[in-house]
This record gives sequence, structure tokens and C-alpha cells, in this order.
Amino acid sequence: MKIAVINGSPKGQYSITLQTVLYLKKKNPALDIEILHAGQMIRSLENDFTRAKELIDASDAIIFSYPVYTFLAPSQLHRFIELMKEHKVDIENKFVTQITT
Ligand SMILES: Cc1cc2nc3c(=O)[nH]c(=O)nc-3n(C[C@H](O)[C@H](O)[C@H](O)COP(=O)(O)O)c2cc1C
Repeated sequence: MKIAVINGSPKGQYSITLQTVLYLKKKNPALDIEILHAGQMIRSLENDFTRAKELIDASDAIIFSYPVYTFLAPSQLHRFIELMKEHKVDIENKFVTQITT
């Protein structure tokens, strides 16, 4: 099973939330888990969303991994979801869940 992790933290690989994902990955080496640092690279994704769309299209499941900053999910993640809609990313037949701190 291929799993796309959408890391909404602007801290990228240094996200504390992401540590839970890395733990899951370590415990389940058979899973093909690919992490997109969407929060950190949101400006470049606004210019070119190809990589994100290809990753989600190729995945069976999506995990949104993000912190809570001032009672909200980071604005970068909100923007990423807007871009998913703009680029008509189809997740109808995929499992989708979230990990948050
Ligand atoms: C600017 C800022 C605002 C935060 N606001 C909240 C909050 O409203 N509620 C909460 O439970 N935690 C809040 N936190 C704590 C973060 O959710 C927590 O530190 C999280 O693990 C950091 O996530 P990250 O390292 O994955 O980016 C905040 C942290 C920062 C830096």
C-alpha cells in the first residue's frame, strides 16, 4: 500500500508532529510511505503542483500530518487544500486520515 503523507507543518522535516509519522514508518517497513513537506514548500507548490498531484494520484491513502497553531491548522495546509481543489485532485476512492498535535 502506498501512503502519501502531507506534512502541513511549516517546519518541514523538523516538525514534531511528523515524528509520529516517522514512528509509524519505522514500525511498518513494508508500507510505502512518501512524505511531502507541503507546508514548507507551499510557495513552490503554488507555482507547480505537479509533484503533489502525482503523489496523491499514485497513493492508496493520504495522511494529513499537521500541528495546531493558534487554534487552527496552519494556513499553509489550508492553502494546500485549496490547491487540491483548484487542480481537481480526485480522492474519492482513497483512505484519508490525519495526525495532529
Ligand atoms: C505559534 C504557535 C502556536 C501554537 N498554538 C497552539 C494552539 O493553539 N493549541 C495547541 O494545542 N498547541 C499550539 N501550539 C503547539 C504546537 O501545536 C506544538 O508545538 C506542535 O507539536 C508543533 O508542531 P510541529 O513541530 O509539527 O510544527 C502552538 C505552537 C506555536 C509555535
